[in-house]
Amino acid sequence: MSVVPTTIAPEVEAAVAGFMLTQAQMTEVVERMTKEIKMGLARDTHPRAVIKCFVSYVQDLPTGKERGKYLALDLGGSNFRVLLVDLKSNTDIDIVSKSFVIASSMLSGPGKDLFDFIANCLADFCKEQRLQGEAIPLGFTFSFPLQQQGLTKGILVTWTKGFSCEGVVGKNVVALLQEAIERRGDLKINIVAILNDTVGTLMSCAFTSRNCRIGLIVGTGSNACYVEKTVNAECFENYQTSPKPHMIINAEWGAFGDNGVLDFVRTPYDRIVDKVTPNPGKQTFEKCISGMYMGELVRLVLVDLMAKGLIFAGERSEKIQTQWNFQTSYLSDIESDSPGDFRNCSKVISQLGLVGNHVRDKLHLRYICEAVSSRSAKLCSCGLVTLINKMNINDVSVGIDGSVYRFHPRYHDLLMFHMTKLLRPGIKFELLESDDGSGKGAALIAATAVQNQVSK
Ligand code: BGC
Repeated sequence: MSVVPTTIAPEVEAAVAGFMLTQAQMTEVVERMTKEIKMGLARDTHPRAVIKCFVSYVQDLPTGKERGKYLALDLGGSNFRVLLVDLKSNTDIDIVSKSFVIASSMLSGPGKDLFDFIANCLADFCKEQRLQGEAIPLGFTFSFPLQQQGLTKGILVTWTKGFSCEGVVGKNVVALLQEAIERRGDLKINIVAILNDTVGTLMSCAFTSRNCRIGLIVGTGSNACYVEKTVNAECFENYQTSPKPHMIINAEWGAFGDNGVLDFVRTPYDRIVDKVTPNPGKQTFEKCISGMYMGELVRLVLVDLMAKGLIFAGERSEKIQTQWNFQTSYLSDIESDSPGDFRNCSKVISQLGLVGNHVRDKLHLRYICEAVSSRSAKLCSCGLVTLINKMNINDVSVGIDGSVYRFHPRYHDLLMFHMTKLLRPGIKFELLESDDGSGKGAALIAATAVQNQVSK
């Protein structure tokens, strides 16, 4: 009977050592992030802040009494979705949705094509659902950094997550959509709100959980929003006079570190990933955390170790040498194997065009995946703890969405573990998986927007 090796070779350990953040480093990350958040909120430092802390113009959390039918658009990844959300009660919500694949050529093509595509999908959906004649209020979940100037006006600051369509940065995205709808001329659409996916996630969790104060996404990208005191949201014109005590802030924490303050925890692999993205030098924190990049980080470590003959010795594979070929879902698959069992790991190895006859190689591959995913969870914990400390509350729920959080077998537990270690004793928190926050959240914000229009 062969004995399954359990020890990691020192050379492999050394290659991933940079991903193993210490408690002291994590505490330092929290401290630095706290400073950056304060800079984003304050009027005089906002222009040069990297964590922008954008005002969302959402000041009301759901009451639980929102009702009615709303359309929602969800743009933020490689799929675009149109939804019809019927809020019947806070436990009975009907959602009909349709997904459309965005052709990769469209991600870097003219912005006009992207918005025409969105309008066409919307028309397609309305036709199928027989909604053409009705001006149903629409909430647009647009998951990129937006400098909002109101609930229906948002200027795209920069693209992230592989998008780079021309002619959109610096423009009001709501107007671009409205124009595309008008170009068709056959749709009656009433856009009542534009929102970030984190805000949608927070709203949809707050609909059922009264304590929800943070919305987090760990998917293709990463970001969080939280409930701030209106008086601290200095970039909001009415921050001193608004009768409403709170403002949801879209932190855009993905950009944390773009000024170098995270260099002390970045590895050489992070620097290589950054160079091959369409937005080098930007979204530093996001590139250490989110699903778009985790697989590539693992691939780079593997390629490095293979070149040194330290893993899959004597094997060659075209696939593993090709950028972005190690999917982030592989990390979740590999780490889902129970200890000593390498069934998923073996599958991934063969998908990568490798044989991988040695158990030690599988053990090492899993170790590398764990290093990358644990670092992601540790940094995310730092972010959440920063926001909880900033709000200075003792009991909070966090609504979470995104493929990494959903599908990684240990992500939730890792967040719980590290947050508990970083938070002051006595602070209670829970992490709630949000169920279609982008859709439901957009509907809830649309409902409140319509309500506020009526009562004005
Ligand atoms: C975007 C955020 C978004 C996050 C999660 C980031 O790349 O900048 O606006 O919330 O991805 O989708």
